[in-house]
Amino acid sequence: MESEYLYQRLERWLVDGIEQQRWALGDRLPSIRTLCREQQLSRATVQHALQRLEAQGLVESRPKVGYFVALPPKSEAQPASRALISAPRLVTVSDVLQDIMRRSGAFDLLPGLHTGELSPGIMSLNRAIGRSLRRQRGEDYQYYDEPAGDLSLREQLALHNARRGWHPGPDQLCITSGCQHALFLALLACCDKGDVVAVESPGFYGVLQLLEQLGLRVVEVPTSILTGMDVDALEEVLKRWKIRACVLSPSFATPGGALMPDAAKLRILALADQYDLAVIEDDIYADTAHGATPDPLKALDTQSRVILCSSFSKSLSRDIRLGWISGARWHARILQLKLVTQLATSRYLQRGVAEFMSDGGFAAHLRRQRSLLRERRDCLLSALRKWPGEVRVSCPNGGLTVWVELAATVDAMAAYTEALANGIVITPGPLFSVTGQFTNCLRISYEHPWNAARLNALKSLPAILYPEG
Ligand SMILES: Cc1ncc(COP(=O)(O)O)c(C=O)c1O
Repeated sequence: MESEYLYQRLERWLVDGIEQQRWALGDRLPSIRTLCREQQLSRATVQHALQRLEAQGLVESRPKVGYFVALPPKSEAQPASRALISAPRLVTVSDVLQDIMRRSGAFDLLPGLHTGELSPGIMSLNRAIGRSLRRQRGEDYQYYDEPAGDLSLREQLALHNARRGWHPGPDQLCITSGCQHALFLALLACCDKGDVVAVESPGFYGVLQLLEQLGLRVVEVPTSILTGMDVDALEEVLKRWKIRACVLSPSFATPGGALMPDAAKLRILALADQYDLAVIEDDIYADTAHGATPDPLKALDTQSRVILCSSFSKSLSRDIRLGWISGARWHARILQLKLVTQLATSRYLQRGVAEFMSDGGFAAHLRRQRSLLRERRDCLLSALRKWPGEVRVSCPNGGLTVWVELAATVDAMAAYTEALANGIVITPGPLFSVTGQFTNCLRISYEHPWNAARLNALKSLPAILYPEG
């Protein structure tokens, strides 16, 4: 307990320093050696405190340079847009979303712009999958894999998650066809038609599409771009209506990359218990952390209420269509639904990915990706700083996108058509809500390299967004 006290004390001292602007956004914190000397602490204690702050998004580490303050000052950088609470309603998703997906434009302003280059991580993934295919036994192709998925992949996923404070057994995991499929199974398992589901607002449009198809009603819970779902607002919602499930993304929620503090996670779990609801954790962005990967909400789940859904789509490849679900008390039902909706998952693909993970290829890929994503985020933020007029931007420490809030006069939906005419695909704010909010907002991705063409596209957007000049 002694060392716990020491790292917590240092953590509080550093947080106070950041809040009191002893170190401003972007400043380098004292080195580990200085902190050890001045605070009379061991290196392990100092490192532990810094890693915890990194996981909360308050600081970021730059290898071989040090730790830097990453928290955007609340008054400057945090977009102010807040959802309003309105009564449960059925969902109708805009056709614009279908159009964006048809153009593969959700994460790229210029989706056709391929460079043709494969990253070292993807090359080694492809080799592992190729080897797995060559090793396929003669009769494998005549049998379905078991519904839960290949054991070697589930074992690797269990190991991968154990580093984040969550220790699932392979039997607590089921392989799915991506995270969207996992979310579908989760909602099917714990809700019936007409039930009400609470979601983040702004929040992921894919969940809204699922609610629409399943005939579920939605209540939008105001969500901070910095710290995620507002727990007071959730409590208000729970007092007013019977809610069956709550879908949220504590680790780098889309659209703005919010990271939920541990205290809020604990309150969500207490509310889930009090109001008897399922918590569906969309964990897809956790491995895109620019620093340490945050622990999942699931790690705190003592009541078997958190269904964790995730996939490799954001951290490795969208094309392999591999995800997973851990269904808590609904797991047996979820296994049955996996069988009904997909029968089975490709065995050679799962084994190839499992081998890629066990050989250390996935960890190496994530290490390389971390610094690339940080650079690309910074490049986007500095380009957005040059935009004219009122621009408020989130500054995420994970995820692949920033949320941009512009002057109230901007109509992002109208700009969508105009941007298309210029060969650019934007993702307008209203797609992240069912109540027509966020009309002056956009989500912009920094997943792809900022080459001249993409930077030019970005530069040309203000003229499209402010047609009146
Ligand atoms: C928050 C979130 N959840 C789930 C998904 C769906 O992911 P997958 O490709 O694994 O089905 C996405 C894709 O954009 C997403 O952003």
